[in-house]
Amino acid sequence: MDIQEILNLADRLIFEKTGKHLDDLQQVVLRGTFQGKKYSEIAQEFQCTNGHVRDVASELWKTFSETFGEQVNKSNLRTTLYRWQFSIVSSPNIEKDFVGINNINFCPETSPSSETINPENLTQPNINKPQTIPKPKIDLSDAPDYKKFYGRTQEIKTLKKWIIQEQKKLVILHGINGIGKTTLALQLIKNIQNKFDYIIWQSLRDSPPLKTIQTRLIQFISHHNSTLQTSENSHLLENLRKHRCLIILDDIQTIFNSGKLASHYTPEHQNYSQFFQLIAQLSHQSCCLIISRENLREISTTKNTFVRSLHLKNLDNQAATKILKDQDLQVDDQWQKLIDFYHGNPTWLNIIATTINDIFSGSISELFQYDSLFLDADIKELLHQQLSRLSELEKQVISHLATKTKPVAISNLLDNLQIPPSDLLNILKSLQRRSLIEKQENNFTLLPLLKQYILSNEVEANCHSSLHSCSD
Ligand SMILES: Nc1ncnc2c1ncn2[C@@H]1O[C@H](COP(=O)(O)OP(=O)(O)O)[C@@H](O)[C@H]1O
Ligand SMILES: [Mg+2]
Repeated sequence: MDIQEILNLADRLIFEKTGKHLDDLQQVVLRGTFQGKKYSEIAQEFQCTNGHVRDVASELWKTFSETFGEQVNKSNLRTTLYRWQFSIVSSPNIEKDFVGINNINFCPETSPSSETINPENLTQPNINKPQTIPKPKIDLSDAPDYKKFYGRTQEIKTLKKWIIQEQKKLVILHGINGIGKTTLALQLIKNIQNKFDYIIWQSLRDSPPLKTIQTRLIQFISHHNSTLQTSENSHLLENLRKHRCLIILDDIQTIFNSGKLASHYTPEHQNYSQFFQLIAQLSHQSCCLIISRENLREISTTKNTFVRSLHLKNLDNQAATKILKDQDLQVDDQWQKLIDFYHGNPTWLNIIATTINDIFSGSISELFQYDSLFLDADIKELLHQQLSRLSELEKQVISHLATKTKPVAISNLLDNLQIPPSDLLNILKSLQRRSLIEKQENNFTLLPLLKQYILSNEVEANCHSSLHSCSD
């Protein structure tokens, strides 16, 4: 059990008892106590008097004593809290202590780490009511159903670190269409839900105005239905200060313009930009997780330490293999080639696996025998959706990259395309934000599948125009 876990536990207990979260000094007192520091050292650290630290500490011990029904003090706090956590996680009633919505079986993260304390040396706890753990209120009615989940261990670890340990206020999860952003976020919630008072998922699939989203969030967190006295921004922020909330906003790309460079808000959605910046900059104890196909531009313009962005890439081989096995494909020596060509993208792998089953009874080799770079019509449709949003200049750049077998230097692009250098740099940034190009040692390249799609489209377009000229 590390210090952060202890602080989280203590925070939940104090919140339940007093309706308030631990303040800075209470956290410093707990941290110091666990590190074996004297009150005088803690006072020096916090630059206040010994007496003040002693008062704050004894108030804390009193609250814990009342909660546990046994005397808690500086010297037994650590073992008492450990036993408390140990008894909670052993409780068979644990699942019903948490609220789940949308048929998702949410089981809070439970395993205590016993690095520092051996549970066998401890007597059974004298816990008043373990079933009184604060229940997080969760509304996932706007999220898709939970599906199978493989891999992504490192990504979950990183997101947990940012959201729980480092208490980032704005976290952006971005990546190409179908790479698994929504699925990962649902899995993450399962892992961290017991660290929050409120969790709510809002999809922006219908490009709602900011006010609609804010009103729904306020209604959920503060049960407030009447007309607001203050602005939505300040009312919501007040709630984010009062409670520890996790807000997930999915499919943010719907509020960005099509036909322009990536992540430019449409005129009616401009105010989202200011809203995200307020969440990132103002003081509160909540986190907003933003899921988008296009990385936000605000992230690169502010050096805000409370913002983090994760670019979600392909699934690792092991996870990709599990997806193919679930589809009952025959294991053969073409397996890896399939994963590589479809770039570990779970959506593309699921689509191609279905096709291989339908047409070749599950034999990958047979597919490759006919067409080693087969582009399924359903995958084409997904790529079309993504590429149709590009600006004209972005299209020029990726058409050029598609003709090259090796990564291309910026100088090469400048020599071959009639685009001024400053525009070209912005275009490359934009294509990166959309996860459409990759950088390899300052040279740029497209995924093989994208190359294939663009080239086959150009061939098709040429065929159409020559057919037209023949019939003219
Ligand atoms: N880690 C994973 N393990 C298994 N299947 C996954 C995983 N991630 C995504 N998928 C599957 O891939 C498809 C697309 O995932 P989704 O999360 O909707 O992508 P995105 O939100 O990036 O568009 C879904 O059918 C989902 O079940
Ligand atoms: Mg999604």
